[in-house]
Amino acid sequence: MYELGKREIDAIAKVINSGQLFRYRGGEGGLCDRFERAFAQKIGTKFALTVSSGTGGLICALIAAGVQPGDEVIVPAYTFMATPLAVLGVGAIPIIAEVDESLAIDPASVEANVTRYTRAIMPVHMTGRPCDMNALKRIARRRKLLIVEDACQAIGGSYRGKRLGSIGDAGGFSFNQFKIIGAGEGGAMVTSDLTGYDKALIHHDGGCVFRKHADKVSTPFFAGTNFRVSEITGAIMLTQLKRLDAILARLRARRAAMRAELAKATAFRLSPCNEDAGDCGVSVPILFDTVKQAEAFLKTCGGKKPFWAGSPINSGRHIYSNWEPILKKHGAYHPKVDPFRHARRKVTYSKDMCRRSLGLLARTVSLSVPYDLSVAEVRRAAKTLVP
Ligand SMILES: Cc1ncc(COP(=O)(O)O)c(C=O)c1O
Repeated sequence: MYELGKREIDAIAKVINSGQLFRYRGGEGGLCDRFERAFAQKIGTKFALTVSSGTGGLICALIAAGVQPGDEVIVPAYTFMATPLAVLGVGAIPIIAEVDESLAIDPASVEANVTRYTRAIMPVHMTGRPCDMNALKRIARRRKLLIVEDACQAIGGSYRGKRLGSIGDAGGFSFNQFKIIGAGEGGAMVTSDLTGYDKALIHHDGGCVFRKHADKVSTPFFAGTNFRVSEITGAIMLTQLKRLDAILARLRARRAAMRAELAKATAFRLSPCNEDAGDCGVSVPILFDTVKQAEAFLKTCGGKKPFWAGSPINSGRHIYSNWEPILKKHGAYHPKVDPFRHARRKVTYSKDMCRRSLGLLARTVSLSVPYDLSVAEVRRAAKTLVP
């Protein structure tokens, strides 16, 4: 979250003064509804649903798209563990594919991992950097697969004129503390498919059958769960969404200044980006020829303010080799509901199954884009990183 202040405080105060914190039972037509309409319009989908986390958003997106228990869903080796957890959350099996130099899922590896059980590809736009969606769409079309985008880290990003999250069959977003806009916790699901939206609406609110809007739901009711949010989340997100364009413009201007300077380096190169204009501008990854060079750069330049620098290889649960419960195939709290028990073929994982991704992640250094400095200050600071 880059901006947070009086506007959010005033919006929350209004909700508290109204005494109406629950989004339903009189809250219909309230702030969550308004946020969903505005968010769907911003992202370019017919529907949006606010939920209590990005993980919940992804689970709803997978349900909306039509992923079913036993299906295989291809996820990248570099993403927060929540992506494969969401796949398990709908009873499906995550299949791990390599990332390429852009650090996004490698379409060639997706293709290589397709089996007769594959139902969906889950591109993850990590650190607001778009995946190669055209290549993925071609594979999906040819192989008759669904695309469910994990846009948790990429709110407002785009690819070839379309907002991330709106390109596939459904998309998920996170509004936790560490995202471009947020409410501390929260998330959303977007889709343009009415039946998919209805399924997500039912699943996110076990009480849906009792709501005023129940008669508008055309999908038969089933037992869901509770991923609902309160009007406080609606109020914060409605306020945050109004800030989004300005935040992205500020980030992108500073990212461009950094890249212009860093492009002059001979010791490293800018990591390729699948769509420069659509990158959210959160960070600038640079790629070295060897791990030693990346480590040496981090030692000498890593602590240099104003940049936070780190290698993605050290990003813990964002690397598949650290997804312990998944590698061990402990897919649920009880074996009877463990999707691995119901897999339609033997799935094997190992810590070194995506060696190319591990190598790329270790040869990459990611530099954060300083939000509070002027463009000139960012340019001057970036100059000091180029030997
Ligand atoms: C790529 C990615 N997917 C999913 C999630 C899950 O979001 P949340 O923590 O809101 O459940 C995150 C959040 O950190 C994420 O970065």
